Amino acid sequence: MISVTTYATFLRRALREPAMIGAPAPTGAALAAEIAAVVPSTTATTVVELGPGTGPISPVVRARLAPGSRYVAVELDAELVAHLRRTLPWIEMLHGDAADLRTLLADADVGPVDAVVSSLPWTLLPPAKRRDMLAEIAAALAPDGVFATISTLTALPALVRNLREDLDARFEEVVATRPVWRNVPPSRLFVCRRPR
Ligand SMILES: C[S@@+](CC[C@H](N)C(=O)[O-])C[C@H]1O[C@@H](n2cnc3c(N)ncnc32)[C@H](O)[C@@H]1O
Repeated sequence: MISVTTYATFLRRALREPAMIGAPAPTGAALAAEIAAVVPSTTATTVVELGPGTGPISPVVRARLAPGSRYVAVELDAELVAHLRRTLPWIEMLHGDAADLRTLLADADVGPVDAVVSSLPWTLLPPAKRRDMLAEIAAALAPDGVFATISTLTALPALVRNLREDLDARFEEVVATRPVWRNVPPSRLFVCRRPR
């Protein structure tokens, strides 16, 4: 259950930076469980979360991880970074833009990544920036790594089609999961493997 302080932080940032936050509410438990299930759980892994926000996904993913795993997150918003450093101190927080992913990871001495989970507001990003970010993600992943991202059903269909095309250009396998209707807003995942 999300605390009042955490929800207030989310709301304040969503009202100040609607295009950067891009969602009316933090991800709910059912969708968080679905994205967490994509992350390998049997061996020690390196997981990177992009845009953790107030952190609704992070503890659910972490609960699956084998001992010795590494949990790194990249967040652009300074207030959310400070919030997470306070509330979820076990996250290796990197304050920066996911567009600079490889540099951020190299500076933090993070090697090939086994799983990237994201709730970035893809359809609100300029197309060139979105493509650059997907290129960074594909390059940061290990060859057998997985990239899972949330896609809201409220986004304009044409923008989701553009996102899908960009994912297909970067990954050999892209699977759209069934919608999680209980989430606000209802959303699905794109689960991408075999970076090109
Ligand atoms: C839709 S919110 C999701 C927040 C949280 N993960 C959740 O599921 O509720 C998107 C998050 O991505 C962050 N973000 C947006 N653009 C970013 C970027 N270029 N690099 C890193 N984080 C970014 C926002 O600050 C925000 O925390």
